[in-house]
Amino acid sequence: MKAYAIANTDFVVSRIDDRLYGAFLEHLGRAIYEGIYEPDHPSADADGMRGDVAKLVRDLNCPVVRYPGGNFVSAYNWEDGVGPRENRPVRLDLAWHTAESNAVGIHEFADWCASVGTEMMLAVNLGSRGVDEARNFLEYCNHPGGTYWSDLRIKNGRAEPWNVKMWCLGNEMDGPWQVGHKDADEYGRLAANTARAMRMFDSSLELIVCGSSHSDMPTFPDWERIVLEHTYDHVDYVSLHMYFRNPESDTANYLALSEKLDRYIETVASTIRQVKHKKRSKRDVRICFDEWNVWYHSMQQDRAIREGQHGWPHAPALLEDIYNFEDVLMVGLVINTFIRRSDVVRIACIAQLVNVIAPIMTEKGGPAWAQTIYYPYYFASVYGRGVALQMPVRSPSYESKHAAETPYVDIAGVHDEDAGTLTFFIVNRNPDETIDTTIDLQGFTGREITDHQVMTHPDLRAVNTADKPTEVAPRKGAGALIGANGLSLSLPPYSYQMVRIAV
Ligand code: AHR
Repeated sequence: MKAYAIANTDFVVSRIDDRLYGAFLEHLGRAIYEGIYEPDHPSADADGMRGDVAKLVRDLNCPVVRYPGGNFVSAYNWEDGVGPRENRPVRLDLAWHTAESNAVGIHEFADWCASVGTEMMLAVNLGSRGVDEARNFLEYCNHPGGTYWSDLRIKNGRAEPWNVKMWCLGNEMDGPWQVGHKDADEYGRLAANTARAMRMFDSSLELIVCGSSHSDMPTFPDWERIVLEHTYDHVDYVSLHMYFRNPESDTANYLALSEKLDRYIETVASTIRQVKHKKRSKRDVRICFDEWNVWYHSMQQDRAIREGQHGWPHAPALLEDIYNFEDVLMVGLVINTFIRRSDVVRIACIAQLVNVIAPIMTEKGGPAWAQTIYYPYYFASVYGRGVALQMPVRSPSYESKHAAETPYVDIAGVHDEDAGTLTFFIVNRNPDETIDTTIDLQGFTGREITDHQVMTHPDLRAVNTADKPTEVAPRKGAGALIGANGLSLSLPPYSYQMVRIAV
């Protein structure tokens, strides 16, 4: 089989916002406790934060981390997590049927973000609370001093405001599972009022309104239209979520889910355009895809805890998906889709970052390691900065549940003019065939391959564990060549590759 693609220096989609490679941390399971925070761990710093986890996060060059939820935020009192630890209350978390110690709150999270070199994206509680909580939290975080909330922050040890720019107006408010779930009109009005109040404090904030929890929601896509009709002039992004599942081990249809993702993005993009025209607005609202990942491996295992059969444990193991090699391909395909749609998807957050449906796993008192999906996320985050290229691809295809023609070869290309690099992220969905691929490099001069990484594995179900942390890991690629026709390389069956070229 053969495939052919074109990369032309003049044909670009958009400059990629670095925040396309963000992540998410929620007070859920062992994400915070035993994930980033474990004061007794041998690698812990003076604040109790695990040094081994911080290193893995730092290596990802993660630009932004969303916090503190998720479903958790919809009944969260941020005030519980500030002030002396011994005075912080233990609360029930209704979303995950657990107890929350509040040992970590906004101060600890902010310090951790600074230590790993990432920016905070905070969510306000529009489930059990509303405008008042949002304005107070904002004042606590961003006002320099001389007021009740800002002086409390100073008293609690932080003199300078954090100046948090990105704020989510609630979480998944379309979901009946959400504490304080609302219909689209009710939520749209509350979100607009909250946004107005927050902008009275600082008109330059970047505000994110809840879109759909997934594209199979019965309210999708009317939810986006109605919510945006209320909020269009007051927000910057609409938030989307999508999780990818393969419970039937149906690889062909699983790997075609990125086609469904692409249609989801396109539908919301057209809804945004519709509301923009209806309002005769000059502003652009874009997409913040602030929860995405593979999530299905752990669903059965968590049921007893989520149904409350174990009472209200603190930080139990929940949603601990162990990712396999097949998931590397899926995550690579999702990120490629975001790169190709980077004109409208400006921010995205892999959900989540540590232990809970996460690229990084930890053992209490033991090691931290990279799950299989760490690698495609790492390559994109570290090397996928610059301008996304429009890349026509001619590839053999197959019919799937999600598209009549799902191409076997999926490519995203990124040109970083400042660094003088051209980077391709390539997935072969074909189970049996190597596909000889040529990428015609039009307008790029002085071309030399500087890095080539390949991920393949004879077993789609292979995983990384504490004992075998590199069972699924990238290795140096071989055989890629640049000739008169451009870049030629072979794509083994079920493979992920990253190729970097100095241009
Ligand atoms: O990321 C896990 C959960 O998935 C989040 O709490 C929620 O927003 C979504 O349903």
